[in-house]
Amino acid sequence: MKYTVSVLQYKPEFLKPKQNFALLSSMLKEIKSDLIVLPELATSGYVFAHQDEVAKIAESIPEGEIFQGFRALSKSINSSIVYGFAEKAADKYYNSSALVNPDGSYDIYRKIHLYFREKLFFSPGESPFEVSTAKSGVKIGMMVCFDWQFPESARSLALKGAQILCHPSNLVLPWCQQAMITRSLENRVFSITSNRTGTEINGEHKHYFTGKSQILGTKGEILIRMNDTEAGVYSVEIDPELASNKQVTEMNSVFSDRRPLMYYLP
Ligand code: ACM
Repeated sequence: MKYTVSVLQYKPEFLKPKQNFALLSSMLKEIKSDLIVLPELATSGYVFAHQDEVAKIAESIPEGEIFQGFRALSKSINSSIVYGFAEKAADKYYNSSALVNPDGSYDIYRKIHLYFREKLFFSPGESPFEVSTAKSGVKIGMMVCFDWQFPESARSLALKGAQILCHPSNLVLPWCQQAMITRSLENRVFSITSNRTGTEINGEHKHYFTGKSQILGTKGEILIRMNDTEAGVYSVEIDPELASNKQVTEMNSVFSDRRPLMYYLP
């Protein structure tokens, strides 16, 4: 099966969701792809100092205006889109990822492993990692940024049948892009990490985001890796079915050779 997957990298303007959405739409409107991954908190920026900033840009699903905008964009360019956003649900806020599909279906993942000051503003997701269905029935697994640090995230998604890990990110530590090579290879799945760029400063709080967004093959091959600062969209054609081959040698499989009873997983 031929399936075009894409990664987008850019620098959002803090607390300007409509302006950022307009820029993202213009970057994507000519793209011919089946699945596009955007950064974490893709239209809001990241360096929050107060809860009221989160409250100002958070959206409820499905009525959120940006969410509806991404649904319409997905339909008009005929591509699934995965993007990160601040979600409001009842009296809680989550650092979430949305999958929107051209047929109008969608899915939401709420970040399970919160990073640093995110813990001041967001609740951790309470639903386990689950596989979602993107365009043409392809199985994807959403994880958000710091989830990379916990190998159980990618492993859970792969064991549940994910063919492609979709990984919206706002990376500030230097290790993730290399670590994701291992996540892909140890699970034999594709992965798409979309990172943002630039420095964001809010009062005394400041982060530099490391770029280097990437698309990896099932053996950890770097199919695409952007540089630290560029903005753009890169695409590559893959065969998602390759992710069903878990063999390492004729006698070894990364899944059926597992010995769960020998592991310590409290
Ligand atoms: C991160 O999880 N945004 C570092």
